[in-house]
Amino acid sequence: MNVDLSERIPNNVDLAGDRSLQRALERWQPGFHGWWAEMGPEGSRGYDVYLRTAVSVERDGWANFGYVRMPDYRWGIFLNPPEPGRTVGFGDHRGEPAWQEVPGEYRANLRRIIVTQADTEPASVEQQRRLGLTCPSLYDLRNLFQINCEEGRHLWAMVYLLHRYFGRDGREEAEALLERRSGDRDHPRILGAFNEQTPDWLSFFMFTFFTDRDGKFQLTALAESGFDPLARTTRFMLTEEAHHMFVGVTGVTRILQRTAEVMAREKTDDPARLRALGVIDLPTVQRYLNFHFSVTLDLFGSDLSSNAATFYTTGLKGRFDEGRIDDDHRLKDRGYPVLEAAGGKVVEREAPALNALNERLRDDYIQDTLAGVARWNRVIQKNGVDFALTLPHKGFNRRIGSFAGLCISPGGQVMGREEWDAGIPQWLPTAEDRAFVQSLMGRVVEPGRFANWIAPPERGINGQPVDFEYVRFN
Ligand SMILES: [Fe+2]
Ligand SMILES: [Fe+2]
Repeated sequence: MNVDLSERIPNNVDLAGDRSLQRALERWQPGFHGWWAEMGPEGSRGYDVYLRTAVSVERDGWANFGYVRMPDYRWGIFLNPPEPGRTVGFGDHRGEPAWQEVPGEYRANLRRIIVTQADTEPASVEQQRRLGLTCPSLYDLRNLFQINCEEGRHLWAMVYLLHRYFGRDGREEAEALLERRSGDRDHPRILGAFNEQTPDWLSFFMFTFFTDRDGKFQLTALAESGFDPLARTTRFMLTEEAHHMFVGVTGVTRILQRTAEVMAREKTDDPARLRALGVIDLPTVQRYLNFHFSVTLDLFGSDLSSNAATFYTTGLKGRFDEGRIDDDHRLKDRGYPVLEAAGGKVVEREAPALNALNERLRDDYIQDTLAGVARWNRVIQKNGVDFALTLPHKGFNRRIGSFAGLCISPGGQVMGREEWDAGIPQWLPTAEDRAFVQSLMGRVVEPGRFANWIAPPERGINGQPVDFEYVRFN
């Protein structure tokens, strides 16, 4: 079933059949457009961008590719089709029919889960809003705008749930989503990593690799929800999310490719020389990685959390791949290993599995990131360069959970404050690193041309050539 894009709010939820909901969303819509004009990608108005737009939820052909004049992207509401006879897959309600309306006793928790997810969507657009001014190519500029538009659509997806299922409180939350601002001292976004800056394209690629991947894991856990509309919404969001992580993994790959080529050609690993040659030295890439990995780990929350246990027991939020896990899906008497610092060392101990669900999701996430890092290392090695990127220890640079505020090196060594402070310039991006990366950022907008510090991609978007005119300026 294709969706009529000429409707004021394109949707596959029969909005026309619920006039008061339709009117409420149409009242929210101008606020969204106002937010986009103020906080969306800077200077993009009037550009024609080769974008994909969701037009249906069919597995094949769910999206259209074509030029879209910014900011006329058709933000719509799409839910995956209902699964007949779907039941709650975990917790105390396991086996009962999935809920089509919000169970009264879980209303506050569900709203909180949806608002927290929703808040990240506009936040990342705000964080990325100036990157278009320093794009390394038209191809990259197009990908940036694609991601921004889709995060905007994810906001729509969540706002639909708030309006449709949460009455007046939901409408108020939807308003507040347009009022908070990433990094704002008085009205910040809800989660820490979404108040950090994304000031350059290395940060952007790290963000889309690490932080959009947190999105994937949160959405996958919500896709298991007993609240069926949430499960169906997040399943469709995941379809779009895959491209965001693709941009991250290939973006960093292309940076490494270019740096490794220059290292091999010049037979040097001296950061100063490499910087003088206009490429990003590998230790700097490692420091950016350390930063984005560690702030993203915090997004999963406390290692031990009674909220996480409640969300699971009440059927609101499942585990990654819940359906494929072979256990009782209730976890009452199970354990799960968690880490903590004790006696100057990181030690493992067994915690109740229900309380450790954040930690489990974090571990699943870490597993997933390892594959990307291995891919990056293959690119470095293929160029004959002897260097390997690594993920820092789970306890490194954490602000949330049992490691919060502790001094743990990337290698996992518990240390004193002084030693830690002395190590920081090797472990996290310094002001100098950031200034150097910033100095490379210039705007490249000639079709087929790429900034010096990044290799071209292997192929273009949707079968188009790499030198396709992905953005037309007017
Ligand atoms: Fe998103
Ligand atoms: Fe995303």
